[in-house]
Amino acid sequence: MNNFLFENKTKVYFGKGGVKEYLGCLLEHYGDTVMLAYGGGSIKHNGVYDEIVGILNAEGKRIVEFPGIMPNPTYAKVQEGAKLARENHVDLILAVGGGSVSDCCKVVSAQAKVDEDLWELENTKHTRPTAFIPLGTIVTVFGTGSEMNNGAVITHEEKKIKGALWGAQADFAFLDPTYTLSVSMKQVISGAFDTLSHAMETYFGKPDENNLSDDINEAVMRSVIRNIRVLLTDKDNYEARSELAWASAMAENGILKIGKVTDFQCHMIEHQLGAYTNCNHGAGLAVIHPVLYRHLLPANTARFARFAQNVWGIDPAGKSELKLAQAGVEALAAFIKEIGMPTTFAELGIPAGTDLKAVADSTVLTGGCCKKLSHDEIYEILKECR
Ligand code: NZQ
Ligand code: ZN
Repeated sequence: MNNFLFENKTKVYFGKGGVKEYLGCLLEHYGDTVMLAYGGGSIKHNGVYDEIVGILNAEGKRIVEFPGIMPNPTYAKVQEGAKLARENHVDLILAVGGGSVSDCCKVVSAQAKVDEDLWELENTKHTRPTAFIPLGTIVTVFGTGSEMNNGAVITHEEKKIKGALWGAQADFAFLDPTYTLSVSMKQVISGAFDTLSHAMETYFGKPDENNLSDDINEAVMRSVIRNIRVLLTDKDNYEARSELAWASAMAENGILKIGKVTDFQCHMIEHQLGAYTNCNHGAGLAVIHPVLYRHLLPANTARFARFAQNVWGIDPAGKSELKLAQAGVEALAAFIKEIGMPTTFAELGIPAGTDLKAVADSTVLTGGCCKKLSHDEIYEILKECR
């Protein structure tokens, strides 16, 4: 294995009723003022807001509300939150929602502590923030795994870049699968596919000799595939929702990445598509993945053949390595169709006039798993997704 350093500081409270049981005691460790951050209001309809406000009141906390964090959060929204946090001397940020709320709050937590513009600090001066307002996350929709890492994905609307920023890592995270019961099935599946994508992007990283990280990764991928299928026939199944919730965290808490280098090519392309179209993250990935993998397959046929056999259960008997590898990618494509995710940009609702060349040219790839794609190749891939 490659050398590695592993640390994950987030304390996870997993399971039904965790907030009710533990949040009150946890709050005793923080100061009086709590910023309650959330999205467009789903938490006001499913009882989560009332439950949390009740606990905050019982603990005598002053609540500063930061509502309206949109899917694909913007840098302007981060600045709004940072200003609010600074003005109110917030002691703890409580991010209640999905990846968008969590990501926005990670960066708010850092931006509130520095005067300098964080985007410039990180992207121009290549300096990461070191001071943060403490952050706790209460996850209401799973998939991104944002709750157990310090990465955030933020859209800078003026620059037309949807890019990574480093922010706070949550001190604690509540993962209660029952909170997801009010999420539309479309979003549940989209989140679960995002998890599968994180696992795949890591699996196709380097090195690709057999190692423990990849063995665990295959189990995570099989679990996600199996549990999406369970939910499609039994939508309230608690076990399946639990498995998907923990798989979401597992795919992005660093364990699968131990000893591996990945550059998340599909994500980088999809993020730029998001910057231009504001599309749903998981759905964008679903369209791009099979097309991307048909392009990458010749560069690492053996790894795609292993994927076919160990993740999709395809019998290698009588197949060349190439045929087996291709069968794996086509199994992925068929699965995307089976679970009702979009398979083309048209199905995803991307306007036909979208400037795909600009999307391709603004995509920044780093190391390259399997191979580093040129901007021309990315453009070809995007055109094939139409
Ligand atoms: O805003 P509200 O009203 O809460 O509605 C949300 C939103 O419309 C709704 N929702 C959430 N919990 C709900 C609920 N509806 C009913 N009941 C509930 N319990 O779900 C919608 C989508 O929420 P969002 O947070 O946008 O989804 P997701 O968790 O998929 O996050 C997507 C964002 O995360 C980024 C994506 O790029 C995208 O911006 N990512 C973050 C990553 C990270 N930090 O590690 C990694 C990922 O690859 C990803 O890029
Ligand atoms: Zn993702």
